[in-house]
Amino acid sequence: MTNANGKPQPLLRLEGINTYYGQMHILQDVNLEVAEGELVCLLGGNASGKSTTLKTILGVVPPRSGSVVFSGENVTRFTTARRIERGMAIVPENRRLFGPMTVLENLEMGAYLRPRADLSGDLDRVYALFPLLAERRKQLAGTLSGGEQQMVAMGRALMARPKLLLMDEPSMGLAPILVERSFEIIQQVHGAGVALLVVEQNANVSLSIADRGYVLSTGRIVLEGKASELLQHEELRKAYLGR
Ligand SMILES: Nc1ncnc2c1ncn2[C@@H]1O[C@H](COP(=O)(O)OP(=O)(O)OP(=O)(O)O)[C@@H](O)[C@H]1O
Ligand SMILES: [Mg+2]
Repeated sequence: MTNANGKPQPLLRLEGINTYYGQMHILQDVNLEVAEGELVCLLGGNASGKSTTLKTILGVVPPRSGSVVFSGENVTRFTTARRIERGMAIVPENRRLFGPMTVLENLEMGAYLRPRADLSGDLDRVYALFPLLAERRKQLAGTLSGGEQQMVAMGRALMARPKLLLMDEPSMGLAPILVERSFEIIQQVHGAGVALLVVEQNANVSLSIADRGYVLSTGRIVLEGKASELLQHEELRKAYLGR
C-alpha cells in the first residue's frame, strides 16, 4: 500500500503518543513506525517505557494524546481484542503460558478467534518452524525449559496469523546459548514475512538482526535509525552496549 506521496504506507505508526499512569507522564511524544514485514527493535534501559509502548500499541493502556494507526486504520480507540482481530499479536514478558495445559492446548489458545477445524494448517506451519513443539505437543507447558517455553509463546502468537508480532524482552531469563537460538527463531519468523517490533535490553543481539531500531530514555525516543548505523553509534555503544 502507498499513500498520496507514493511512499510505502507503514503497517504501524505511533504519532505524538503521550501515555500516563495516573499523574505520571511516561511516554512523551513518541513517534515510531514499523513497515510491512520489517523487523524493528525498541531499546532502552529499565523503566524507560518499553513495555508501556507495547501496551499502548495493544490498547492495554490508552494514550492521553496521540494516535495509533495500524494497516491504515486509526485504532487508538479500539479495544485490545479488536486490535488482535486486525492482526496484532504479542509474546509478553515472561511468556505467560498456561502451565497446566499441554503445548498443543497452548498453541490452540493462540487461535481462539477461529473455529477449531481451521487450525491444522496453522499448527503445521508452527510445527515446521519449531519441530520440537510437535515432538512435545502433549507435554505440560509448565514443565518445559525456558527456551522451549519461548518457542511455545512465539508459536502461540503465530497461530493467529498476525501481521505484526510484538515481543517484550524475548532474551530475558535465557542462558546465552538460548538467547542466540531465540533470535534465530525471530529471524525465521521475520523471513516468513511477519513484521516484528521487538523490545530488548540486549542491544547487540537485537540490532544484529533488526532492520531499524529506536532507543527510549525516560519515555522519549532519543535515537533512531538503521540497525547497522545504531550498532556503530558511539553514545549508544557507551550507554547500552557496554563498551
Ligand atoms: N501500571 C502502572 N502503574 C504505575 N506506574 C507504572 C505502571 N506500569 C509501569 N509503570 C511505570 O512506568 C515506567 C515505565 O515502565 P515500563 O514497564 O514501560 O518500563 P520498561 O522499559 O519496560 O522497563 P523494564 O526494562 O524494567 O521492563 C516505570 O517507571 C514504571 O514504574
Ligand atoms: Mg518492560
